[in-house]
Amino acid sequence: MSFVIGIDGPAGSGKGTMTKILARKFNLIHIDTGITYRVHAKAVLDNGINLDEKDKIIDLAKNIDIQIKNEDNIDKVFLNGKDVTKDIRSKEVTAIVSQVSSIKEVRLVMVELQRKLAEGKNVIMEGRDICTYVFPNADIKIYLKASLEERARRRYEENKQKGINTSYEEVLENIKLRDENDKHKEIGSLKVAEDSIVVDTTGLEIEQSVEKLTKIIEEKMKKL
Ligand code: DC
Repeated sequence: MSFVIGIDGPAGSGKGTMTKILARKFNLIHIDTGITYRVHAKAVLDNGINLDEKDKIIDLAKNIDIQIKNEDNIDKVFLNGKDVTKDIRSKEVTAIVSQVSSIKEVRLVMVELQRKLAEGKNVIMEGRDICTYVFPNADIKIYLKASLEERARRRYEENKQKGINTSYEEVLENIKLRDENDKHKEIGSLKVAEDSIVVDTTGLEIEQSVEKLTKIIEEKMKKL
């Protein structure tokens, strides 16, 4: 049996930052499900597969080895044994990942892997469909949101810090596109689960969001 906190929300809503901090605070394993889709998208690029070659994309999903190893609180990511931790955040991967992850058969493979990663552990898992599809019975369900402009600004700053060279406008356009794609997936689309608590992080400092979420989690834990 696992204890699962699911955190869903669009790109830049604060999922990554929040789940890492909350994982330490509540002594939970942090699982970023976006990594699984990003590794697969990286493999699609590495293999020179076009986005209209659906069968090849699905085949690849079934045949790649994805490993995530947490070292000193950083997720080291391996694709067929090769360290791709940095590569999966590239502009090229970010540009195609939403589209590639829309394919139902790809999602089925990745969701199976995500459930396996959580097996028997106490986890805080971030994604788009954790509370609706991956773990519909999650113990605590939260949906994070923030305005489009604020999300783009955060992601732009984050890229700058990571040495990824993108303009604000480019980031904004990419997020808009990904939002649209993520909302219209056949399975696992981005939506608020009926029983999720929605938290708007627009205009909040990181500490303020942490405080809000901590309160929600503590309250919920009392009732479990
Ligand atoms: O959270 P992220 O930006 O690293 O996610 C990358 C992409 O993966 C995102 O555009 C949509 C997809 N994704 C998904 O479809 N379902 C998830 N649970 C997590 C990510």
